Amino acid sequence: MESYYLRLHWLGVLISVTLLPSTIFSSTSCNFPAIFNFGDSNSDTGGLSAAFGQAPPPNGETHFHTPAGRYSDGRLVIDFIAESLGLPYLSAYLDSVGSNFTHGANFATAGSTIRPQNTTISQSGVSPISLDVQFVQFSDFHRRSQTIRKQGGIFQLFLPEEIDFSRALYTFDIGQNDLTAGYKLNMSTEQVKAYVPDVLGQFSNIIKYVYAQGGRSFWIHNTGPVGCLAYVLDRFLVTAAQDLPLASITYVDVYSVKYSIISQAKKLGFENPFIACCGHGGKYNYNRFIKCGRKKIVNGKEILIAKSCKYPSARINWDGTHFTEAANKWIFDKIVDGSFSDPPVPLEEACHKMDH
Ligand SMILES: *[C@@H]1O[C@H](CO)[C@@H](O)[C@H](O)[C@H]1NC(C)=O
Ligand SMILES: *[C@@H]1O[C@H](CO)[C@@H](O)[C@H](O)[C@H]1NC(C)=O
Ligand SMILES: *[C@@H]1O[C@H](CO)[C@@H](O)[C@H](O)[C@H]1NC(C)=O
Repeated sequence: MESYYLRLHWLGVLISVTLLPSTIFSSTSCNFPAIFNFGDSNSDTGGLSAAFGQAPPPNGETHFHTPAGRYSDGRLVIDFIAESLGLPYLSAYLDSVGSNFTHGANFATAGSTIRPQNTTISQSGVSPISLDVQFVQFSDFHRRSQTIRKQGGIFQLFLPEEIDFSRALYTFDIGQNDLTAGYKLNMSTEQVKAYVPDVLGQFSNIIKYVYAQGGRSFWIHNTGPVGCLAYVLDRFLVTAAQDLPLASITYVDVYSVKYSIISQAKKLGFENPFIACCGHGGKYNYNRFIKCGRKKIVNGKEILIAKSCKYPSARINWDGTHFTEAANKWIFDKIVDGSFSDPPVPLEEACHKMDH
């Protein structure tokens, strides 16, 4: 690590003698033409909504002023990532209405796991679009987008070019639901721990499959503050990286960032991080039977009973499970410059290969 910066620095000094400094700096930005995202609700921009029904209002109220397929009052970390790279927000691959995939696609759905589960969404809340399915969809998208694009005309305005698949940024934020799925089946912590290697193995296979399709730049978030997966993922990724000689793999410790926003909420000017902004009753304004957006018919009229708080921007916890836009923005600002990355590369430079 140290030596890389040193080399870069020296190279900078040498080149600046003959070239304009701007040439040097601009060459470090990757100019990603597209983002392909895989994940769960942390980065779902409309997948689950398209397949199983729209996330209801007041989701989306802050930024989009209407439900926008996200489980938040506004933008997610993936939206801030797209914005900062100068790209449009990602359309969900499953969304057939108004989508534009010129600059990438989003395969994430809320409730997704890495391992396919043996329960239905109505039994456990786990999405059937697990990471293996997301990869199949990506693969299909890759192949068919090129066949369709060759037909010319209007399709060229909706689909990415072939070269963009190797120049794109591949982002991953998934794994949290693999742990909760076990606990929901009343497994002990020992039993959950016992399947973590399988979860990681399946995750690493997907990275390898994407690599085999030309993917080179990987930006991988560990899980939020749930269990031990975050802890093991980084050690594991270092080994995975050795199998993929041309890949730039950046591992981002969002776990620590999420932990710090929760533990330092007050100091940062946020209200109690455990109380949901949107919900209904109880100590935490959370009732699992009356979740954010729940309506009730009273005297023949529909009224919202699990509604939003007055100032979502002062909250961290949106609906008992997900983060508010304000929290997502705070998290994004912490990770964008590489401070929580291994190797410590900023987002816009994540195509450069460095040693872990
Ligand atoms: C689902 O069932 C199959 C077949 O029994 C098993 O191999 C797999 O590990 C199970 N998946 C999970 C997440 O338990
Ligand atoms: C899709 O988005 C791209 C980039 O923003 C734009 O150039 C293109 O015209 C859009 N396609 C359509 C059909 O609007
Ligand atoms: C887990 O345990 C709870 C409490 O004992 C029980 O109500 C529930 O049905 C169990 N769930 C499963 C999937 O076995």
